[in-house]
Amino acid sequence: MVQPQSSAPSSRALTVGVLGAGTVGTQVIRLLTEQAEEFAARSGALLTVTGVAVRDVEAPRDPAVPRELLTDDATAVATGNDLVIELIGGIEPARTLILAAFKAGASVITGNKALIAAHGPELYAAAAAAGTDFYYEAAVAGAIPVVYALRESMAGDRVTSVLGIVNGTTNYILDEMSTKGLSFERALAAAQELGYAEADPTADVEGLDAAAKAAIIASLAFHTRVGLDDVTVEGIREITSQDIREAHASGCELKLLAIAQRCRPEAGAAEGISVRVHPALVPTDHPLASVHGAFNAVLVEAESAGRLMFYGQGAGGAPTASAVLSDVVAAAAHRVHGGQAPRESTYAALPILGPGAAVTRYQIQLLVDDAPGSLAAMAGVFADHAVSINSVRQSAYVSQEQAVVTIVTHPAPVSRLDAAVEGLGACERVLEVVSIRRVEGE
Ligand code: NDP
Ligand code: HSE
Repeated sequence: MVQPQSSAPSSRALTVGVLGAGTVGTQVIRLLTEQAEEFAARSGALLTVTGVAVRDVEAPRDPAVPRELLTDDATAVATGNDLVIELIGGIEPARTLILAAFKAGASVITGNKALIAAHGPELYAAAAAAGTDFYYEAAVAGAIPVVYALRESMAGDRVTSVLGIVNGTTNYILDEMSTKGLSFERALAAAQELGYAEADPTADVEGLDAAAKAAIIASLAFHTRVGLDDVTVEGIREITSQDIREAHASGCELKLLAIAQRCRPEAGAAEGISVRVHPALVPTDHPLASVHGAFNAVLVEAESAGRLMFYGQGAGGAPTASAVLSDVVAAAAHRVHGGQAPRESTYAALPILGPGAAVTRYQIQLLVDDAPGSLAAMAGVFADHAVSINSVRQSAYVSQEQAVVTIVTHPAPVSRLDAAVEGLGACERVLEVVSIRRVEGE
């Protein structure tokens, strides 16, 4: 009988420097210490943390972080180790420290989506020049292995779209509004109490955190450089309890989505990519509608694979540390056995479509004259602007003469939809354009 082979004791030793010992860094250090033998067996090298850079060396810390390793000399940590884990966040000094680490020959692991969305190409180039690895699984959707899936698992396929809930804070807020009827302000306060939202929640509620992740997703999915400035962004600050009630009345949930898709703004036009973050109606039977609380989910559609769904914890110390450590094992194994992380892939260089060219479905609610010919007049306006109607529902009677009509369109470019809405505003049968919402998910 064949016995399972025990892993050979690792003959190599690699040093690890950690930049930042906050929510994520603390858990990374704890797990690297507690599970040292397993990491050695998996990577082929004993991984020893030699330094932990923080801002305030004297601040109280979780006992998992050995006091004797703390230093405020981040440059020494970045330039004195085989593997450098950047968990400071933000642009500077993270960017300078990572570049210094590559220059010193280190492999770098980070969870810093803001930095990658702003300076990804520069970091990839520095890794290539150093001949070392650059990994960032934790930058998108925390514990969920989305970066690996797009960068490696989907390398044999042609991705057509990625639709995701990639910000836990905003999903928590919208979910509390939907399931408990809380106002935006109360839901945000609850998110802050639970530690999901920062004291300054701007990056989350304005959609900027999701936009950085959308840029990374789109770059990987479409082999095209996509930066933060290429993403059309709208956050959730303006969402009201009334918006949620209207979503429910339409059989939908309102979700903040990150969307990256191949599309043609017009038949015969060149293919481009649309990358955007905005609240959208999602039908309740769609898988993303049942993503509750601070959870994340990402739906990838590819030509051969079809639809793939990834779901899990998008934030938090231990879940994010799990993603960081998967990168640590891969980078360590490469240093022991050879091999490299995938390089930046930009060969497709697809054009990035502006906000007006994004193609999506819409739900438009109109207050109208409830009289013969009103529907025909409205349908005529949609036809004039080449926007195809998918469904029409007369949902509420305001009075004997007025009704609210809810129209859902087929996918149309924003520019055409805007023109149709302008036409509806001028149509005498339409008393008011009550709301316009994008609808995502078939
Ligand atoms: P925290 O704010 O909790 O921790 C940041 C750490 O960096 C602290 O230890 C801080 O030191 C240290 N630091 C800040 N500035 C400096 C500096 N100039 N020099 C040295 N050290 C510095 O951040 P998180 O752990 O939450 O996030 C880390 C990274 O992981 C970010 O890029 C974030 O986007 C990403 N990420 C976080 C997730 C999460 O759930 N928190 C999820 C996915 C990704 P001190 O302790 O002394 O203040
Ligand atoms: N602020 C982010 C969120 C943390 O709420 O999802 C993970 O990137």
